[in-house]
Amino acid sequence: AKKQFITQLMQRMTLDEKIGQLNLLTSDMDVTGPFVRPGYKKDIEAGLCGSIFNAYTPQYTRKLQEMAMGTRLKIPLLFGYDVIHGHKTIFPIPLGEACTWDLGLMEKSARIAAQEASADGLHWTFSPMVDIARDPRWGRVAEGVGEDTWYGVQVAKAKVKGYQGTDLAANNTILACVKHFALYGAVEAGRDYNVVDMSRRRMMQDYLPPYRSAVDAGVATVMTSFNEVDGIPATGNKWLMTELLRKQWGFKGFVVTDYTAINEMINHGVPKDEYEAAALALNAGVDMDMQGSVFATQLKKLLQDKKITLQLINDAVYRILAAKYDLGLFKDPFKYCDTVRAAKEIMSPENLQAAREIAQRSIVLLKNETQLLPLKKQGSIAVIGALANSQRDVIGNWSAAGDAGKAVSLLQGIQNKLGTAVKVNYAQGAHITSDTGLLKKAMQKQRLEAADTANSAQLLSEAVALAKQSDIVIMALGESQGMTGEAASRSNISIPESQQELLKAVYATGKPVVLVLMNGRPLTLEWEDAHIPSIVETWFLGTEAGNAIADVLFGDYNPAGKITMSFPRNVGQIPIYYNHRTTGRPIDPNNKYSSKYLDVANEPLYPFGYGLSYTKFTYGSLQLSKPQITAAAPLQVSVNVSNTGNYDGEEVVQLYIRDKVGSVTRPVKELKGFKKIFLKKGESQTVTFTISVEDLKFYDKDMRWNYEPGAFTVFVGTNSRDAQGVDFTLN
Ligand code: IFM
Repeated sequence: AKKQFITQLMQRMTLDEKIGQLNLLTSDMDVTGPFVRPGYKKDIEAGLCGSIFNAYTPQYTRKLQEMAMGTRLKIPLLFGYDVIHGHKTIFPIPLGEACTWDLGLMEKSARIAAQEASADGLHWTFSPMVDIARDPRWGRVAEGVGEDTWYGVQVAKAKVKGYQGTDLAANNTILACVKHFALYGAVEAGRDYNVVDMSRRRMMQDYLPPYRSAVDAGVATVMTSFNEVDGIPATGNKWLMTELLRKQWGFKGFVVTDYTAINEMINHGVPKDEYEAAALALNAGVDMDMQGSVFATQLKKLLQDKKITLQLINDAVYRILAAKYDLGLFKDPFKYCDTVRAAKEIMSPENLQAAREIAQRSIVLLKNETQLLPLKKQGSIAVIGALANSQRDVIGNWSAAGDAGKAVSLLQGIQNKLGTAVKVNYAQGAHITSDTGLLKKAMQKQRLEAADTANSAQLLSEAVALAKQSDIVIMALGESQGMTGEAASRSNISIPESQQELLKAVYATGKPVVLVLMNGRPLTLEWEDAHIPSIVETWFLGTEAGNAIADVLFGDYNPAGKITMSFPRNVGQIPIYYNHRTTGRPIDPNNKYSSKYLDVANEPLYPFGYGLSYTKFTYGSLQLSKPQITAAAPLQVSVNVSNTGNYDGEEVVQLYIRDKVGSVTRPVKELKGFKKIFLKKGESQTVTFTISVEDLKFYDKDMRWNYEPGAFTVFVGTNSRDAQGVDFTLN
């Protein structure tokens, strides 16, 4: 029925109407790229625009949909938006949420985001972003799940399931869009939009699997990336979109470009002008042009000149109409424009409760040396730092439709928890960035930070005085939300100087300090780690941030998050990731000619998978069911984990494998499984993993996805560094 319906509709479409369907334009409600096309409403009325992004609410989308219903063929508009970590109820940024190691929760937040977005007039989210990222200078690390491929594969699947559900025609599911295809996370030097260059092997082994996983999970759409892939801009790369994505992976949905990405290929210096750029993109496999209007202006002429075929246009139109059909828009174009439903379902108490739980579970305890945490609900507490009193920052970057006014700041969260029983005082202490630095200038220029006129010296002395009068100091320091995300690369990823100065001055008072970090990327924290007794990583946790952080600080929730990106000691170590391959001269402290730095260790400050708890987990020795694995018979590895501390708590038990000898060099360790367990104080549990030959596969010297006989080590432990290993073989 679908095929017949669309085919019949297409028979009635003019060439202009077909090209119109390949056009995605931003509304003026919100803008996420360099320019707006003011004429978008005229294009809708003329049937020359098939999809709109950056427009939401049942009222506004109804108004635009009515325009489309006034056109000759009444083809409904598709409404897209960046629903990245929640729509109105904002969840932790993806890099934070990844620290939950809870795929069910990650699916759930996507489910709620889809429910709210669809209630708010939307059909399509530009998420999940699954770009593997190993360079924290890149601001967009905040939007993905970090450095590990295997983990990225699992999360990609969960997110697609969450957004799309099992039935796209249901009124509370939306189309997902996996992005940015491909390799965007590997921009050189961490500078956004920069060049990418990598071997085919690394692409296939490390960077492409999460996109593939989203495709296998049935993702409806794919977004191209701004970078080049093997010398050809991704948006014009036929190998990528046609050979790999469609032919090898069997992708059936449509491909949309990133914002003006077709036009920008001219800057890459590959096509000479928009005419050539449009041909390159369509011939390579792009279906929809986001905001570039290049398809709209060039395709007709290209067809006359026989530079493209009508078949290619028809295929693209078909795929886009099929997505609209799957959503049920032809039956009822207004099915997502229900104001009653929006009022009931958006930011409902259940959604806020889920946001609080997911935020709690995203928090990572990086240090708690003197067991300063959890804090007692007594005495006098100083809360210091500009981020402590910020609602805007806690909902993070790409919180698009999020309402900062409804977010709970850390200060508010602490006050909610303690009521009047405890004296809580606040001092800003410092500006987020120092007065003279380049960073501050850039932030103000982009209007990401308000021109802050308060006198820095006065702020500092007020904070120090407050600390002196208090029993304990909670300091919220880190990055503003605008220092992270798109177009927010940093060459220095420490806490900005102004705040470091504040931290050092408060530390010098001798009062116990709990450092609550807010940031969208791993930071360099060597001084902080050496001096501050308790450090809590909270990322940007979303609408319920303050409540969730207070739950952790005061022991109502025992933190269990584990980082999914290594924290370097300094920027000179970047790129740094746990699953690197070894060299011919592995580090040897006694050998000058081994692979190391003169001035810093090779190891990160906090490794992948790291995170503490208020309780203590003790691991027994690893048991293998047998010393050998075969293709027919997997093996089991078990370990007994005991909660030997003083609190109930959760632990993420992690499994890594090393392939000791291969036809190509292999990583020192690769994550292949994890289990999150809950143990009451004093309890133990045996955790068992099954390893099969599937877990041992890699791209061999002939680029076949295969396993090879030989010796392996399986490691199980609390993070990628602290894990015990035992050997097994595959014959
Ligand atoms: O979805 C985003 C993309 O990640 C970056 N450029 C703009 C798009 C639409 O807002």
